[in-house]
Amino acid sequence: MRTSSVLLLLFSAVGAQAQDRTTEAGDAGIEDPDAECQSYYYAPVSNAMGSFPTIRANVTSILANDTVGQQKFLAMNSSIPNIAPRGTLGGDFSQVTYDQAADPDCWWTQTQCVTPKLADLKPDVASVPEPRTLGYGFDDGPACGHNRFYNYLAEQNQKATMFFIGSNVMWFPLEAQRAVADGHQICAHTWSHPSMTAATNEGAFAELWYSIQAIKLVTNVTPTCWRPPRGDVDDRIRYIATQLGLETIMWGFDSFDWEAGTNNITTDTVQGNYDSLMAKAGSGAFDGIGAIMLTHELNNYTMQTAMDNYPKLAAAFDHLVPIAVAQNKTQPYVETNYSMPSFADCAYPL
Ligand SMILES: *[C@@H]1O[C@H](CO)[C@@H](O)[C@H](O)[C@H]1NC(C)=O
Ligand SMILES: *[C@@H]1O[C@H](CO)[C@@H](O)[C@H](O)[C@H]1NC(C)=O
Ligand SMILES: *[C@@H]1O[C@H](CO)[C@@H](O)[C@H](O)[C@H]1NC(C)=O
Ligand SMILES: *[C@@H]1O[C@H](CO)[C@@H](O)[C@H](O)[C@H]1NC(C)=O
Ligand SMILES: *[C@@H]1O[C@H](CO)[C@@H](O)[C@H](O)[C@H]1NC(C)=O
Ligand SMILES: *[C@@H]1O[C@H](CO)[C@@H](O)[C@H](O)[C@H]1NC(C)=O
Ligand SMILES: *[C@@H]1O[C@H](CO)[C@@H](O)[C@H](O)[C@H]1NC(C)=O
Ligand SMILES: [Zn+2]
Repeated sequence: MRTSSVLLLLFSAVGAQAQDRTTEAGDAGIEDPDAECQSYYYAPVSNAMGSFPTIRANVTSILANDTVGQQKFLAMNSSIPNIAPRGTLGGDFSQVTYDQAADPDCWWTQTQCVTPKLADLKPDVASVPEPRTLGYGFDDGPACGHNRFYNYLAEQNQKATMFFIGSNVMWFPLEAQRAVADGHQICAHTWSHPSMTAATNEGAFAELWYSIQAIKLVTNVTPTCWRPPRGDVDDRIRYIATQLGLETIMWGFDSFDWEAGTNNITTDTVQGNYDSLMAKAGSGAFDGIGAIMLTHELNNYTMQTAMDNYPKLAAAFDHLVPIAVAQNKTQPYVETNYSMPSFADCAYPL
């Protein structure tokens, strides 16, 4: 009797710890993805919801009482390049006509353009300056069941750049906090993941603005980089992002992990894309300049595929580092009291 009550106590203590959804550390201890994917109450987010758009809804306007956001938008409104929105927020551009040869707006979706036509806009970051280096990063998080993946990265002492969707940050705030606690870099990836060139000026501003505010609210850092969903960016969107202090981060290689199982992309295709990047690294293709590949913190498959390929990637490249590290950007946030190692100081992978 006595033994079993002690056991019961121990068991419930362990059970309670495994279900702690109130602190970053407690939440990080939940290994089972299904348990981790249960939504939970988190007061700081709940209390702030009135100052944010509906979670997962496309944002088309700045909230009526958001005077800070309105002023920020007003300050840039008259100088936003006069390029009309096109296609749909869902990414249907089939009805759009565009002069691809001239590519007047450096519209990536049509031409993979990463060097803006407009003066004063910096080129997108589509590769990393350090040779034989992979700028290691993942889109679409925080995924609700990411702890096994983050545990794995932590075991390898491997940091990455996480492109977080604002709605997901609000939905799984402790998962977002874990990224900062684990030393990953956070960039924004919009509020609701629309195709940004379809958004109005105000809509594009709001998608970025509220994703930045969500990251700040939850993790206490303000990102200085973003990645456009589906890579859909042009000079109008680049301008709005630049005014918000965000550098545009693209990629040179796409694993297509996000598309596995649809549109003729099989898991073999995705593995082939990983293999081809590693073969290129092996043949010296990145001896002058490093690479960025698009991969995702999206679901079990994309995260497991990243883990399965990690040892081979780490062998194929000399360095796997967050993009900020490959840029020697030791202060990746607006807050100056947070720093990341410089490339030279970077000890990982071990
Ligand atoms: C805006 O209004 C909502 C709903 O009344 C409220 O919850 C929120 O705190 C307000 N936000 C600001 C920035 O005043
Ligand atoms: C932004 O500028 C456009 C014209 O360039 C104007 O029609 C619009 O009302 C302005 N928006 C705001 C919020 O001032
Ligand atoms: C909102 O954006 C998503 C893409 O993120 C798109 O699929 C959906 O159609 C959009 N909703 C509306 C009402 O445009
Ligand atoms: C898939 O591949 C088949 C054969 O190559 C082709 O006929 C079909 O149009 C493709 N489907 C899509 C969605 O790309
Ligand atoms: C993916 O699912 C499999 C099967 O349930 C599991 O063994 C594995 O740990 C999961 N991977 C991740 C990264 O959660
Ligand atoms: C980063 O800093 C190191 C050490 O100063 C230097 O050798 C390297 O060229 C720098 N790389 C970049 C991309 O700035
Ligand atoms: C940095 O300063 C902010 C206040 O500006 C504070 O909230 C935060 O905890 C500090 N972060 C670190 C890592 O010291
Ligand atoms: Zn995405």
